[in-house]
Amino acid sequence: MKKETYSIIFSSLTGNTKKLADAIHEVLPKDECEYFGTTEAQVPQSELLYIGFWTDKGNADKNTLDLLPKLKHRRIFLFGTAGFGGSDIYFQKILGQVKQSIDSSNAVIGEYMCQGKMPQSVRERYIKMKEDPEHPANLDALIENFDCALSHPDMDDLERLKMIIMK
Ligand SMILES: Cc1cc2nc3c(=O)[nH]c(=O)nc-3n(C[C@H](O)[C@H](O)[C@H](O)COP(=O)(O)O)c2cc1C
Repeated sequence: MKKETYSIIFSSLTGNTKKLADAIHEVLPKDECEYFGTTEAQVPQSELLYIGFWTDKGNADKNTLDLLPKLKHRRIFLFGTAGFGGSDIYFQKILGQVKQSIDSSNAVIGEYMCQGKMPQSVRERYIKMKEDPEHPANLDALIENFDCALSHPDMDDLERLKMIIMK
């Protein structure tokens, strides 16, 4: 009997989302993996796809948004990272946006998001903005969120994902 294959396709600018992709890869049978890698390659044949994105302006990154509409009749597990975390509602909002790019012939069989650290330049920009007396009121909250994101994805994030994948 022919084994069902799966593929893990991800986009990751600074490595956070790749950590999630690696965690998924770690717990799935290696001999059933057709493709593991970035979105740049040709779309794999596997019906079962694990698709990873990083959040860009409240939606998936461009590479993922280019890939998703090409998919038809697949089962898709969506996973992603975002700089702002701590709220499931926020993650749900992003996932809702991302799913708008998925054709209705596909089935989204699962989803997972966690926080991912942001480049130091972002924090430096916040600090610079604070020098302006007219700065936005939420700057301290943004800096706090930045610092909180620094440790993510952490072991807990990856373990939670693995548990979902193995279910
Ligand atoms: C250009 C750009 C735009 C971003 N936009 C958002 C955003 O709208 N919301 C958010 O939560 N994080 C945003 N982030 C943060 C990233 O989504 C986050 O750091 C993510 O974990 C990066 O994943 P990667 O390491 O796999 O590239 C943005 C980062 C960049 C560089």
